[in-house]
Amino acid sequence: MEKNIKFPVVDLSKLNGEERDQTMALIDDACQNWGFFELLNHGIPYDLMDNIERMTKEHYKKFMEQKFKEMLRSKGLDTLETEVEDIDWESTFFLRHLPQTNLYDIPNMSDEYRAAMKDFGKRLESLAEELLDLLCENLGLEKGYLKKVFRGTKGPTFGTKVSNYPPCPKPEMIKGLRAHTDAGGLILLFQDDKVSGLQLLKDGVWVDVPPLKHSIVINLGDQLEVITNGKYKSVMHRVMTQKEGNRMSIASFYNPGSDAEISPAQSLGDKESEYPSFVFDDYMKLYAGVKFQPKEPRFEAMKNAAATKDANPVATVETF
Ligand code: OGA
Ligand code: NI
Repeated sequence: MEKNIKFPVVDLSKLNGEERDQTMALIDDACQNWGFFELLNHGIPYDLMDNIERMTKEHYKKFMEQKFKEMLRSKGLDTLETEVEDIDWESTFFLRHLPQTNLYDIPNMSDEYRAAMKDFGKRLESLAEELLDLLCENLGLEKGYLKKVFRGTKGPTFGTKVSNYPPCPKPEMIKGLRAHTDAGGLILLFQDDKVSGLQLLKDGVWVDVPPLKHSIVINLGDQLEVITNGKYKSVMHRVMTQKEGNRMSIASFYNPGSDAEISPAQSLGDKESEYPSFVFDDYMKLYAGVKFQPKEPRFEAMKNAAATKDANPVATVETF
């Protein structure tokens, strides 16, 4: 890690005081040059975060660890003699909050854990919407613009991926999560405050996202890059495995609704845009197969798909 690189940490409480302008500028710089920043004093109660961390770790021990070990055996990962490039060293489950919750369909969660996750999800949803408006302000877009774009006809999609990255005997042989950019909108991450592992690619160098107790790490997905016409960037990141310690990470994805129409904002795209316009669900269908590849060919493929559709509308009808 380069010595002079300082990961952007934003004290959100400063938005209410004299340092508002500097704080907004710090957020803008982070969105342009890092694709990531870390929030403190974000308004989510620290005791709620402590409870979630405790219950997530208990849940892993009780219901997930055994399954993870079985997965290692069944995939032949218990020896790791050569580098593995098509599997991640992670144990995960996924909660959906919006448009409809699946929280009550997930097995093996205590009532207390479910209630805490519901509360946490609500608070993260509000924080995401507050942040989208801060981004609008920095971008010169009207308040509510991004939220409205994300809404589609059914409201945004919002979900939480609960992950554990167990200790790995040979970290050089496998990643916790391979390098990728996130497809969606805004990602809010509650990561372990002791075990590190998350890194982002900045100017060709992998930089650690430092564990910081009670912080929420924010990063931007591909959709915000498209809507801002490249002013803001989604940035490659990955999770390294560690020899010691089990890293918890709870990543919540505030994404557009499936039928939301995504395109560069007019006020940010006066030149002929290099970014495509599309329906979010079509992007996700493409992303599913190419998540661990660079985003540029995805943008290109979406542009080509739109061009084909415009040039030959009859052909698309005939496919039904
Ligand atoms: C992801 C991701 C990081 C982490 O799920 O897209 O980047 O720390 N997670 O789990
Ligand atoms: Ni990610």
